[in-house]
Amino acid sequence: MNDKTEGQGYFTRLSHAGRAGTNVRGFVNVPVHRGSTMLYGSMSERTNAANERFEQKAHYGTGGSATHWALENVVAEIEGGTRCQIVSTGLAAVTVPLLAYLKAGEHVLMPDSCYGPARTFCDNFLSKMGVATTYYDPSISGEAIEALFQPNTTVLYLESPGSHTFEVQDVPALAAVAKKRGAKVLMDNTWGIHHFQPFQHGVDVSIQALTKYVVGHSDVLLGSITVNSQEDWERVRSTSVILGQYASPDDCWLALRGARTMGVRMDRQEKSAVEVAAWLRTRPEVKQVLHPALPGAPGHEIWKRDFTGACSLFGVVFREDITRESVHAMAEALQLFGKGASWGGFESLALPTGTVTRTAGSGQFGGEMLRLHVGLEDPDDLKADLAQGLTVLNARR
Ligand SMILES: Cc1ncc(COP(=O)(O)O)c(C=O)c1O
Repeated sequence: MNDKTEGQGYFTRLSHAGRAGTNVRGFVNVPVHRGSTMLYGSMSERTNAANERFEQKAHYGTGGSATHWALENVVAEIEGGTRCQIVSTGLAAVTVPLLAYLKAGEHVLMPDSCYGPARTFCDNFLSKMGVATTYYDPSISGEAIEALFQPNTTVLYLESPGSHTFEVQDVPALAAVAKKRGAKVLMDNTWGIHHFQPFQHGVDVSIQALTKYVVGHSDVLLGSITVNSQEDWERVRSTSVILGQYASPDDCWLALRGARTMGVRMDRQEKSAVEVAAWLRTRPEVKQVLHPALPGAPGHEIWKRDFTGACSLFGVVFREDITRESVHAMAEALQLFGKGASWGGFESLALPTGTVTRTAGSGQFGGEMLRLHVGLEDPDDLKADLAQGLTVLNARR
């Protein structure tokens, strides 16, 4: 098996990455390698192994196994980086690099639209370490963000599109300012996994909740941190080891299995999501659909410039006269959309997200919001389900 995939197409790379060099004969997939203690033939062999902690070589269970490394290689390939660290959850993929690049007395710039628990981490944990956070308008320009940099700003954090509100960030412009100011650019690229190449747009560290589309079946939690330089690799890898980060090889194996079919799942889900989103736009109850792939939607122009496609997670903003109770009644009535958090699985989900008020930037969105994740079901059935849900919503107004 050859995993030299340079120059090959994306789908070829998804099928072949991470499958070589594992001493596996016969089976198509890298099996589950489990273990904690490693045995060595000699003491010198053991000493050499401990010195190879930045390599994909086993010395103790926490260093990973062939199963972890295969997944690391696949994710590095997808993200267009050199090395990847697998961690226990998507949230750990957020917190580990923040801890790797920030210390007491420093300052981080976070988008106001960041994933909620990332905000909690800054407010309740980094603050106790003496790290200050400034939340910025996610739609901010390169010129405007420069004014927010302080002499001690060492990290510019990006998440594009933003959680719940889907603002598409001008990543190249923002990253260029960070470079000029000597700050690292960390980006949560979970939404863009299939369609945004972070390192081609100036990002230093790319964060993924593999829990979403890579796993793809709503049954495993995992995260990844991908870098594109040896210096960043050593920083991320050593912090992850210090923090005792580890992921079960069984979970990595399931994520590897998910990665092989992610491309086809996501292509289908993107198509269905755009169809459902465009249909929702025609409904009188809906003020705005926040899906960057829709022409005229917020962020569409930057999305068209920087992304090669979209995933199937988007937001709906209802008209101001529609109450929270009626949106909840609609969500209750849905039969095909599950009521639940997370996204990226094969199944559709609906989550009322209330009204969003920015602490920085563009203010209110104007109405109650519903986040939708479109799965692999037939889009006509999903539209029919939403239509009957809207009938319930209208009955409650
Ligand atoms: C944008 C984003 N990043 C990170 C995470 C965290 O992922 P996990 O659920 O695996 O901790 C989530 C989860 O919803 C998310 O939406």
